[in-house]
Amino acid sequence: MIKVALLGCGTVGSGVIKLLADNKHVIARRAGHEVQVTKIMESDPEKVRALGLDDGIIAASIDEILNDDDCQIVIELIGGIEPAKTYIIEAMKKGKNVVTANKDLIASHGKELFEAAEENSVDFNFEASVGGGIPIIFPLKLSLAGNRIQEVIGILNGTTNYILTKMSGEKEPYEKVLQEAQQLGYAESDPTSDVEGYDAARKIAILASIAFNSRVSFEDVYVEGITRITPLDIKYGQELGFVIKLLAITKEEEDKIQVRVHPAFIPRTHPLAVVGGVYNAVFVRGDAVQDLMFYGRGAGQMPTASAVVGDIMEIVRDIEKNNTGRISCTCYLNKEIAAISKLKAKYYVRLLAKDRPGVLAGIAGVFGNHEVSLATVLQKDSNQGYAQLVLITDLVEESDLRSALKVLSEMDIVGAVENVIRLEGVSGHES
Ligand code: NDP
Ligand code: HSE
Repeated sequence: MIKVALLGCGTVGSGVIKLLADNKHVIARRAGHEVQVTKIMESDPEKVRALGLDDGIIAASIDEILNDDDCQIVIELIGGIEPAKTYIIEAMKKGKNVVTANKDLIASHGKELFEAAEENSVDFNFEASVGGGIPIIFPLKLSLAGNRIQEVIGILNGTTNYILTKMSGEKEPYEKVLQEAQQLGYAESDPTSDVEGYDAARKIAILASIAFNSRVSFEDVYVEGITRITPLDIKYGQELGFVIKLLAITKEEEDKIQVRVHPAFIPRTHPLAVVGGVYNAVFVRGDAVQDLMFYGRGAGQMPTASAVVGDIMEIVRDIEKNNTGRISCTCYLNKEIAAISKLKAKYYVRLLAKDRPGVLAGIAGVFGNHEVSLATVLQKDSNQGYAQLVLITDLVEESDLRSALKVLSEMDIVGAVENVIRLEGVSGHES
C-alpha cells in the first residue's frame, strides 16, 4: 500500500478523495498498489468530516506530514504561492514525491520546484495545472517527445470561453454576459484573473516551457483580456467568416519563443472554432505528428481530480520500480522571448471615420506609409456623419500597425480607433 498525504481538501482535494474511494480497486490493479490517503491538512476540518472521514486523519501541522516516513506522496491542493511552495520543497527534501494542480506556483516559481525535485530524485507531476481534466503535460513530455513542436494554441480558460460563446450566440454585451455567468457560478465574483487573461497566461507559460525546452514564466507572457470585445466586433467578424476566442498561443520563430494571450479571430473552419461554453482545448502542431487537438473540461471537481489521480498512479508505478525522478525538468535551453512588437500577423481593425469623399484614400495612404498592406476594407454602418470602417490587413509587423494607428488616431478624419484584434490560423498566412 502506498500512503499519501493531502494538503487542501477543498473542491479538487475532496474530488481526489472521492475518486480514490470510488475507483479504489481498479486504481490498485492498474497502479500495482492500493493508494491510501492517511493524512489531510485542511484549514476547515468540516470539509474533511463532510467526506465521512474521522478526525484522526486530520494533520495538526505540516511537520506531522513531513516527518511521517511512511508517507511517500504529497498532493498539494491548497493553491497560491505561499505556503504551498515551502511545503512542496520541504516535502521533496524529505524524499517525498509531489503532485500539484497549482498553475500560479509553477508558472512563476517552476525553476525552484524542478530543481528541488531533481536534487532529491523525486517525481513532480502537475497534469491538472493546465486544462483541468485534459491530458496535455504528459503527452507533450512523453508521447510527443520525438517531435519538434511548432505551435501550441489553447483555449485554456472556461470562464472567458463561456462569455465569448454567449456573446457570439446571443449578441449581448460583455458586462451583461459576465453578470449572468457570475449568477450561474461559471465566473468568480472577482473575475479579474480570468477575464484579463492572467489564468490562461499561467497555463500557456507552463506549456511553452515544455514545448520549447526553455523556462517561460508568467511574467514573460504578453497578455490582453476580453473586456474590450464588443457585440459589434463579433458581428463584423462573423460576417467575414471568423469566430472570436481568447487564445493562449506559443510558437517558436527564428529561435525565439512567442508566448501570448489575447482575443483572436479564427476562421470558423479552424478546429478550435467549435470549442464552446466552458470547454477547453489545446491544439498542437508537431513536425512529425502534424495537427492534434485535445478537448475536454478544463476545470471542475471530478475532471481535475481525474488528472491528479492519474499523476498519483504514475508515481506509484515509479516507486514500485525504484525509479522516481525519472522525468526531470525539460528546460535544458535558454531561448529568448520574442517581443510582441515584432509579431507578424494579420489584423482586424475597426475605425470610426468621417463619412465623406476622400477619407478612405487618406486612411489607406497612412497605412501604406507604414508598410501596412490592406487585404479587405469594408464600410459598415454609418451614423451621425461617421462610418464604421472594418479593415483586414495582410501579414504585417505589429509595430508598423501600431505606428499607423497612432497617426490615424490623431487625424481629424478619424473619430476613433475602436478595436484591433489579431487573426490566427488564417490559411496560408498563419501568424
Ligand atoms: P479550494 O479553495 O476549493 O481548496 C483549497 C483548500 O485548501 C480550501 O479548503 C482551503 O481552506 C485550504 N487551505 C488553503 N490554505 C491552506 C493552508 N495553508 N493549510 C491548510 N489548508 C489550506 O481550491 P480548489 O480545490 O479549487 O483548487 C486547488 C488547486 O487546484 C489550486 O491550485 C487551483 O488553481 C487548482 N485547480 C483548480 C481547478 C478547479 O476546477 N477548482 C482546476 C484546475 C486547477 P480555506 O478555504 O479555509 O482557505
Ligand atoms: N478559472 C479557470 C477557468 C478554471 O475559468 O477556466 C481554473 O483554472
